[in-house]
Amino acid sequence: MPDFLVTGGAGFIGSNFVRHVLDHTDASVTVLDKLTYAGNLASLEGLPEDRFRFVQGDICDADLVDYLVADHDLVVHFAAESHNDNSLRDPSPFLHTNLIGTYTLLEAARHHDTRFHHISTDEVYGDLELDDPARFTEATPYNPSSPYSATKAGSDLLVRAWVRSFGVRATISNCSNNYGPYQHIEKFIPRQITNVLDGRRPKLYGAGLNVRDWIHADDHSSAVLLIAQRGEIGETYLIGADGEHNNLDVVQSILTMLGQPADAFDLVADRIGHDLRYAIDSTKLRTELGWAPRFADFTAGLAETISWYREHEAWWRPQKDAVEAKYAESGQ
Ligand code: NAD
Ligand code: TYD
Repeated sequence: MPDFLVTGGAGFIGSNFVRHVLDHTDASVTVLDKLTYAGNLASLEGLPEDRFRFVQGDICDADLVDYLVADHDLVVHFAAESHNDNSLRDPSPFLHTNLIGTYTLLEAARHHDTRFHHISTDEVYGDLELDDPARFTEATPYNPSSPYSATKAGSDLLVRAWVRSFGVRATISNCSNNYGPYQHIEKFIPRQITNVLDGRRPKLYGAGLNVRDWIHADDHSSAVLLIAQRGEIGETYLIGADGEHNNLDVVQSILTMLGQPADAFDLVADRIGHDLRYAIDSTKLRTELGWAPRFADFTAGLAETISWYREHEAWWRPQKDAVEAKYAESGQ
């Protein structure tokens, strides 16, 4: 098995991916992570010391990136500023990390001819109407709405250009909304779970009718590992698990599972430019690479995730007041 360099491995999906690789292969993993507010070393506790190494650093640090890329067979690039609401408050770190950081990694992959897998989002495609049966495919035109999705779209285009112009051996995946353990509590599902656990009411933007296509982070990991091992160079793969639900349904499920009345939530100010609906058609990944999700039942995956947050209060508690104070500033 190749040695993996995983950027952003102290974040939500990156830390789940690192565990997945260590559990399902005999590969060694190095994590490169800046430990921004979203990175947490506690998400990487208990990993085998002989196969796992952590390096704190910025993906925009060209010397460090070049040194680490030279020493690995495969780069899996998760590191990003990842939250839409933050990108509406201050876009600047999104341009730095998502664009300059990806450029810096691509240059190192080019110089060392290192296989590169770029992690991206379905949000690069913009949004779909609520009543439209259409779903995103690899052929959907890019049409990002927010500073977050625009910088992710830009990073995807850089990868495509480095493949075409410089022969970098890269693949791209665009995944739908993830849920599962170790997700930062600024994000929708863990924010609402921890609100209820903390005696606060869930907060729904607008009327709560926006639709997201939920996938468990472990299913995202299995798809990424497969693409990194067997994906065709230069190709893009959409990752999704047929998990469309509107936000109101998700909040009501969380309330019910935690023994609260289904109407014990607040409607709050809507997000500016709020994308209506995302939906993924993952036929290419399923037919060409034979991938299938393990968490086909969203309700069961959500119940497992609620249990995780209930059992890991020490992981999220230190952030809770500050996260809620920031949302309160924008009436959310
Ligand atoms: P996250 O915010 O939980 O984690 C991001 C990690 O990147 C953190 O550990 C942070 O410290 C690190 N990081 C940020 N800037 C860095 C820099 N300059 N140098 C080094 N490390 C840096 O994000 P996530 O939700 O785990 O998302 C990971 C990736 O998956 C992102 O590329 C995101 O666009 C993509 N994605 C996320 C979702 C989702 O639902 N969360 C869906 C599809 C794709
Ligand atoms: P989020 O987790 O921020 O992911 P994304 O913006 O990438 O889809 O939000 C998911 C959905 O939940 C989105 O429609 C915005 C909505 N939302 C709320 O209704 N309340 C909240 O407190 C948050 C954080 C999000």
